[in-house]
Amino acid sequence: MHNTSPQAETLTPLNPIWRVQRFESLDSTNRYILDQARLGAKEGLVVIADEQVKGRGRMQRSWSSPKGKSFSASVLFDSERTLFDAQILVKVVSLAMCWTLDKLYSLDAGIKWPNDLEVRGKKIAGVLAEVAGRNDKTQVVVGIGVNLGQNEEELSVLGRPATSVFLERPDLESVPALALLDDFLARISSLLETARSAGGTVMILSHYRDRCTTLGQSVVARLPSGETVEGMAIDLGNDGELIISAGHERHIVNAGDVENLNVWP
Ligand code: BTN
Repeated sequence: MHNTSPQAETLTPLNPIWRVQRFESLDSTNRYILDQARLGAKEGLVVIADEQVKGRGRMQRSWSSPKGKSFSASVLFDSERTLFDAQILVKVVSLAMCWTLDKLYSLDAGIKWPNDLEVRGKKIAGVLAEVAGRNDKTQVVVGIGVNLGQNEEELSVLGRPATSVFLERPDLESVPALALLDDFLARISSLLETARSAGGTVMILSHYRDRCTTLGQSVVARLPSGETVEGMAIDLGNDGELIISAGHERHIVNAGDVENLNVWP
């Protein structure tokens, strides 16, 4: 490890396909990588920050990343079919973190469609994909935030049931963000190889189904347009969309927020 600038430290991950920069504080790791992508950054750039002061959430919400109590990372991927790639890449990143939380902390995290990680129905992590388009190519930035050390009071301001690694595993002395990084990146490498192999997306979707807590539930989906769709979440489409059955109709939901109606919070 050595310093490359007053703010950024370059870390050396186990797999050299990743180039990791760590910042003490950033407004948003997604924003930083989007800017770097516009300046020509290549796939494999990973940015982590000890805190974010303007973390971005899905659907224009903010995301809280307090210093020393959260994991905030963004990863830059090349993309050929933007919308489809973004849908699969968020699944790759969500699955990677589910498996990391399982391996390191024995947390049985599930994924609420599209990409909220939950433990016992409470949100522990969120994923946000943003597209960086230049004239010659399109890239996708996928950012993930994990609640590590927040207590109940700190999480209560989020306005929805949330938990942290600390609350799930009070027996642990500390939960440092860097402890997650190597395992998480190793899992992304291997899932990405799968995703980009022949028939790979089918395999990613199959892993995702195994973790998805939304399937088989009565749900209300709130679409970005403000419309809602209520029914039974019955399956995923070929690109990871949620299929909701309502009476004789089937709705295919590409983006939005889903509330599981029959899950006890
Ligand atoms: C959500 O559930 O609303 C998505 C939250 C995504 C938060 C992460 S933290 C790292 C990256 N940088 C951001 O500004 N947001 C994402």
